[in-house]
Amino acid sequence: MTAIDLTGRRALVTGGASGIGEAAAQLLVELGAKVALADMNRDALPDARSRTGAAFATAGDVAIEADSERMVSEAADALGGIDLVFNSAGVGDDLTPVHEQSVERWQRVVDINLKGSYLICRSAGRLMLKEKRGAIVNVSSIVGLDGFPGRSAYGIAKAGVIHLTKTLACEWGAHGIRVNAIAPAYTRTPMVQSLLDRKIFDPTLIERRTPLARMAESIEVARAAAFLLSDWASYITGVVLPVDGGWSAYGAAGDVVKIRNGQ
Ligand SMILES: NC(=O)c1ccc[n+]([C@@H]2O[C@H](COP(=O)([O-])OP(=O)(O)OC[C@H]3O[C@@H](n4cnc5c(N)ncnc54)[C@H](O)[C@@H]3O)[C@@H](O)[C@H]2O)c1
Repeated sequence: MTAIDLTGRRALVTGGASGIGEAAAQLLVELGAKVALADMNRDALPDARSRTGAAFATAGDVAIEADSERMVSEAADALGGIDLVFNSAGVGDDLTPVHEQSVERWQRVVDINLKGSYLICRSAGRLMLKEKRGAIVNVSSIVGLDGFPGRSAYGIAKAGVIHLTKTLACEWGAHGIRVNAIAPAYTRTPMVQSLLDRKIFDPTLIERRTPLARMAESIEVARAAAFLLSDWASYITGVVLPVDGGWSAYGAAGDVVKIRNGQ
């Protein structure tokens, strides 16, 4: 193997109409895969399909069992099967502390980020089990690894995604199916841009806390996913790969800028 080659692979990308999912879909196409997009944003799908070169697109809500099953089945029909899944569909939370949170909003965030990943894995996994091969990459977050104030729904969901990933890796490994997760830090996507625009995040604080001193671009996260989906990762399953510019490695008091400047 001289380069990552996904020729002949059939990939489903949820959340493929925007951000990290869209970047991954485009990259998987460039690496030779046939790609289907699945996204709740029906209006965004036609443009995303033409930008990414995806062969097929289907609209639905990953948190609804019937939608998830239908989208997996339609994608498999359109592509002739499914070998690869990138579960990028997700939403952020409303940044309120637990004691002020509404259960409805909490539940919706958990349903999309965790139940949605579970349902898509379950439906696609049933197809992969018949073919005895496949690879899945779920999207967790640095928020699934540590405590972030105001982010309990998202954090619990993303921690659950890690547990789902490890459990499925153990259940399906002997059937030739690998299941891994990535844990990105702040990535410049429409989801994060809307938080920056509303001044909910301060980018300078994020840059000061990050050893690589910047936020990620979607393509940098997509490349990690493509690696884990490819045969280059043929003996890797059940891992959570931080794609975070060193965020989760940094544990000192103060910020990185002081260390960098020797202060
Ligand atoms: N951007 C970041 O900084 C960051 C960091 C860590 C993890 N993540 C995770 O990466 C993934 C992608 O995030 P992004 O920043 O690209 O966001 P984004 O908003 O740009 O894209 C998310 C896509 O998912 C779709 N989606 C949302 N809910 C859905 C549902 N119920 N069913 C189907 N589709 C749905 C949206 O329509 C959208 O197209 C998410 O799981 C997010 O939690 C993002």
